[in-house]
Amino acid sequence: MLRDVSSTIRERKCITVLNSKGGCGKSMLATNLAAFYAKSGYNTALVDFDPQGTSIHWLKLRGEEKKAIHGIDASQIPTNVTRSFYMRMPPTIERVVIDTPAAVKGAELQEFIQQADNIILPVLPSKGDIHAVAHFIETLLLDIKIKTYNAKVCVVANRVRRNTKILKTLENFLTHIKFPFVSSFRETQNYIHAAQEGLGVCEMRPPSRFAKDLAQWQTLLDWLEEGSAIEINNILSSSYSASKS
Ligand SMILES: Nc1ncnc2c1ncn2[C@@H]1O[C@H](COP(=O)(O)OP(=O)(O)OP(=O)(O)O)[C@@H](O)[C@H]1O
Ligand SMILES: [Mg+2]
Repeated sequence: MLRDVSSTIRERKCITVLNSKGGCGKSMLATNLAAFYAKSGYNTALVDFDPQGTSIHWLKLRGEEKKAIHGIDASQIPTNVTRSFYMRMPPTIERVVIDTPAAVKGAELQEFIQQADNIILPVLPSKGDIHAVAHFIETLLLDIKIKTYNAKVCVVANRVRRNTKILKTLENFLTHIKFPFVSSFRETQNYIHAAQEGLGVCEMRPPSRFAKDLAQWQTLLDWLEEGSAIEINNILSSSYSASKS
């Protein structure tokens, strides 16, 4: 059941979507995750560190009638204010979703790991991308020493067309290195259509057309919230019946 959050503010949690490989779905995951949290009643912030500004652009497309998400364009800090002043957010924010640029490394990468409670690593199911993520995970383990931080890390596959041999290869590799492989998101125009309107798939109509995608999100939300704090079926049925009546 969806909790009534109007009277209680939950502890803030920071979820960072990260992979040094470009185009693997970081912004798709960050924007959809922010939409899920906002729609579920969490006070949500979306912080975009990528100068391309995909997530900030998505926020600008969002209609005012949609659940508000507090946006911060962290790649464009004006020179006349301090970074901490610019990055401040309302104390009521409960979930902070961070979108990161490609090719992130070194001190910047370390800072993302330090700040995160959860890290989601999206990977495309191709030989090249699996090779690249293996290298990135090696950097996280050996150079950054990610296991010494508190962040919980998981991998998700994105733009999956079907259960291919290459997906199995990714799964075997992650099992071998004991990294949780939490969900697979299918390749679908649904994400493109949602992005064009500044929406997440959980806000698209009719929900039946997005049912397969929503089921894939439930698995990731369960992992993030360690159980079902967010029940997609509940948030959909309540808001859909309200919008029809
Ligand atoms: N599951 C999906 N199905 C269909 N299209 C998708 C899916 N995931 C992402 N895309 C599309 O793929 C493109 C790249 O995705 P996205 O921008 O999220 O990647 P990214 O990792 O943020 O890229 P960059 O490294 O450039 O920031 C976008 O056009 C996005 O709409
Ligand atoms: Mg991006």
